[in-house]
Amino acid sequence: MTKFFFFWYFFTCNIIFADEIKISIILENCKSCHGYNYEGNKYIDSLLDIEKSDFITKMNEYKYSNDNYAMNRISKVLTEKDIKKIAELIYENK
Ligand code: HEC
Repeated sequence: MTKFFFFWYFFTCNIIFADEIKISIILENCKSCHGYNYEGNKYIDSLLDIEKSDFITKMNEYKYSNDNYAMNRISKVLTEKDIKKIAELIYENK
């Protein structure tokens, strides 16, 4: 039984860990357009100017809209859970 739990623990930890890595790689991708610290540039407004809840709403709007702009293509591959996790990380220090 102990062996089983050890195995189960090891397995679930790995899944959580893999997920964290994936999200941090996705965030590096966001920075390539939204700037280091998501503060934007002369073309794109800072992501920190909007609230976390607006961020989640906007990301879902991009995800479910049929347009084909950069943000639509990027958000299509994210799950709603990914979007929430990304929001946690971007707005955690705000
Ligand atoms: C290829 C460049 C590019 C990448 C990569 C990118 N974005 Fe964007 N993003 C844009 C552009 C351009 C806009 C503004 C134009 C628009 O609304 O489509 C935008 C707008 C947004 C907005 C709306 C901001 C507002 O004030 O309305 C959010 C939120 C956002 N992006 C989040 C993200 C996140 C999170 C990622 C990473 C998963 C990401 N973006 C990656 C180009 C990019």
